[in-house]
Parts: sequence; C-alpha cells; structure tokens
Amino acid sequence: GTVSAEEAERTFIAIKPDGVQRGLIADIIARFERKGYKLVAVKILVPTKEFAGKHYAEHEGRPFFEGLTDFLSSGPVLAMVWEGQGVVTYGRKMIGATKPLESAPGTIRGDFGIQVGRNIIHGSDSPDSAKKEIGLWFTPEDLVSYGLDIHKWVY
Ligand code: PPS
Repeated sequence: GTVSAEEAERTFIAIKPDGVQRGLIADIIARFERKGYKLVAVKILVPTKEFAGKHYAEHEGRPFFEGLTDFLSSGPVLAMVWEGQGVVTYGRKMIGATKPLESAPGTIRGDFGIQVGRNIIHGSDSPDSAKKEIGLWFTPEDLVSYGLDIHKWVY
C-alpha cells in the first residue's frame, strides 16, 4: 500500500568528499534507488568547517573530531534525503560498518573503502538523528513529495 508523506520514514545520507572525488555518486545512488527507496532531496555543496562541526556536534571533544570536520569540509559533499520503509536502519546496513575493514563485502564501505577516516558515506543512525540532520542540511521546501509507479511493485 501507499504511505502518506507525513508518516513516510526518511533518512539523511551524505556522500563525503572522498566518495565524490572518486566518482562513486552514481553507484551509491543506484544502490538506494534499486532497493526501492525514493530520493526526495539532493544537493551538492562544500560545507564550511563550522557547519561540519554542527553536523558532528555530538562527537565534539572526541579525538577524531578535528580530523573528521576537516575532512567533511575539504571538498564537495552530496547531501540527500531518502525515503521508504526501514530506510534508516536498512540504509545503515547498505553503508556497512564504520570501519571499512570490518564492513562486509557488498556494503558500500566494504566494497569501496579501506580507512575509517575515508569512509565515503554518512547515514543517520536513528530516526531522531535523521530528523535533526535533515533539518540541518535542508529546509522543508527542499523535500519533494511524489509518487513512483514502481512502489506498487515494491510495497
Ligand atoms: S560512536 O562511538 O558510535 O558514536 O562513533 P561512530 O559512530 O563510530 O563514529 C562517529 C563518526 O566519526 C567517524 N569516525 C572517525 N573518523 C575519522 N577517524 C576516526 N578514527 C573515526 N572514528 C569514527 C565515523 O565515521 C562517524 O562518522 P559518520 O559520518 O557518521 O560515519
């Protein structure tokens, strides 16, 4: 059946500067699209270091915080909102474990990465952080509501 825009589950996904520089945008989008999720917002931008700090605010004070915010602000980031049943949890499964050497083959990090400091992609870890991160990177008007014929076959 169909799900109304209000109750649809959404997550924030960002392809980090290493993923963009390596030309992985199309591959990553294809994985989410083929799974049956729906892209409802997208933009490319170079975040400031300050903005990167806001995105990773909960990790302020951790030893990797400086390196992580330097990295995120070092080049273009593809920011997206994806929608669909279970997209927060399953999106994280598709991304794979934080450390690429621990992420399974077939996951994005397992297939494309070696180092935790260059782990290609970010995905919200809970519905609460999804809400927060979508609100930080996008305005409500950026989110597009539309139907897809394929969803008749996905759901
Ligand atoms: S925790 O303890 O579960 O909250 O932390 P975790 O989710 O594993 O990591 C938080 C984010 O920091 C990134 N990270 C690192 N970046 C660089 N170097 C090191 N050593 C490192 N450790 C963790 C990790 O990828 C998480 O960012 P995102 O973008 O969410 O993946």
